[in-house]
Amino acid sequence: MNEQQRKQANQIKQVDPSDIKSDQDSNLERIKQIDSDEMISKYFQATYQPPNLKKAKKRLKKDVDIHYDFAISQEMKQIGQGKKFLIRTYGCQMNEHDTEVMAGILTDMGYQSTDDTNEADIILLNTCAIRENAENKVFGEIGHLKPLKLEKPDLILGVCGCMSQEESVVNRILKKHPFIDMIFGTHNIHRLPSLIQEAMFGKEMVVEVWSKEGDIIENLPKVRKGKIKGWVNIMYGCDKFCTYCIVPYTRGKERSRLPEDIIQEVRQLAAQGYKEVTLLGQNVNAYGKDLEFEYGLGQLMEEINKIDIPRVRFTTSHPRDFDDHLIEVLAKGGNLLDHIHLPVQSGSSEVLRVMARRYTREEYLNLVAKIRKAMPNATLTTDIIVGFPNETDEQFEETMTLMEEVGFESAYTYIYSPREGTPSARWEDNVPMEVKKERLQRLNALVNKQSKEAMKKYEGQIVKVLVEGESKKNPDVLSGYTERNKLVNFRAPKSVIGKIVEVKVTEAKTWSLDGELVEEAVEVK
Ligand code: SAH
Ligand code: SF4
Ligand code: F3S
Repeated sequence: MNEQQRKQANQIKQVDPSDIKSDQDSNLERIKQIDSDEMISKYFQATYQPPNLKKAKKRLKKDVDIHYDFAISQEMKQIGQGKKFLIRTYGCQMNEHDTEVMAGILTDMGYQSTDDTNEADIILLNTCAIRENAENKVFGEIGHLKPLKLEKPDLILGVCGCMSQEESVVNRILKKHPFIDMIFGTHNIHRLPSLIQEAMFGKEMVVEVWSKEGDIIENLPKVRKGKIKGWVNIMYGCDKFCTYCIVPYTRGKERSRLPEDIIQEVRQLAAQGYKEVTLLGQNVNAYGKDLEFEYGLGQLMEEINKIDIPRVRFTTSHPRDFDDHLIEVLAKGGNLLDHIHLPVQSGSSEVLRVMARRYTREEYLNLVAKIRKAMPNATLTTDIIVGFPNETDEQFEETMTLMEEVGFESAYTYIYSPREGTPSARWEDNVPMEVKKERLQRLNALVNKQSKEAMKKYEGQIVKVLVEGESKKNPDVLSGYTERNKLVNFRAPKSVIGKIVEVKVTEAKTWSLDGELVEEAVEVK
């Protein structure tokens, strides 16, 4: 087949619908044919609802609907009996938590979880679209799963999460990976039972991606990953539209859960013995802006401060919406920890302007000064993008000086990655990749230096550690995090797992601390 014919065969619109209806191939036949271009477009027609980034960008006045009526029918509860599921998660905490929800739904359908791909009857890839390398990882994994699907035609393979919200990704899967059984979006998670049913009994690839702004579904089941730390969504979506970022398109508009629903969830976790909650949102400081009554993150934190749970964190903060009331509440301490992750992205006001971050270097520094005044011991960490289109050497130097001036104790650093559909992806960029890589290396060296220095200060000190379990590298060693989110490794009996104990720091490394359990440690809050 020549290139022209290949293109034509791939054009979705040219497929004759009668061809689809008459297609009676078995599931196995379908998979055997996956390398044949002519076959490719046949299987998704019936259920294909394409995602649309332009539509996803719209922000209408429509109220957010909150649903409390999620239910799984008796029939669907039988569907997974004797079967196993595996979910691979890419991306941020929001995705990790969505995975817990999908695990909850699948468990209610009778499925059991497994870590072994060979045992699984259903495998879901919960994907991230934030940078190109995140997407490449997923496409790599899809490729790895193909032989397994050929071997086990009844295996259901699903792609969900942020990548599913992009039309280019959906088209690529349809054309190049037609052995995938279902693609569903971030707004379609509650539809999982029906989608699985369709994938099991239908012949077509099931594609359901809503490009709407999003509702809130309250009563979804959850199977949480651990019993010590829990995630709690306080809001969904993002309305900031930073010019480089895909999130507002993949996650819909900013919408806050009602305070009482959040408080009830945190109370439940406390009652179940959880020691720490992290309140989640892409921009938690915008919490409450969309509610019909005056309410913000400060007020929510005041309420959560009263709940008997030892540790409360929140992420991610946007500097623009970080208000004085919140600082005041955080300064009261208690279970509100003084670690603030405050992504700055760049130290140059001009770059921040083109990024549409809506604050200047000076405004960011003023905010840091206010936080430091109220919480002198607060730990600040950040996210930084280097090599934004046309970033000059001088502008990058401003990022380096800001890093030092604020004294960030760690930072997630990234090379700018153009995301299709975002404004900056259409801009010309005069910064060569080599220069971007050099900048990243220089920045990372500074981040390492500052992290090491921050760690060094802990040597000889006693810190409170929430013990999470055995260290990943050595099962004889336990590990956990301090209030300011420093990883600590130390030897102690396994009975302290799940408790907060005092540990004396003996040696500081760049990214972690080694220590000794303080003798006769009693549980401390
Ligand atoms: N809502 C958070 C961050 C979400 S994404 C905030 O606004 O701070 C996490 C980080 O990924 C961002 O802080 C940013 O540093 C990085 N990021 C987002 N889009 C990116 C892109 N197109 N290229 C490189 N890094 C990006
Ligand atoms: Fe992306 Fe900006 Fe929203 Fe963060 S605030 S999720 S960087 S658009
Ligand atoms: Fe990635 Fe989506 Fe989170 S793009 S960072 S998984 S919101």
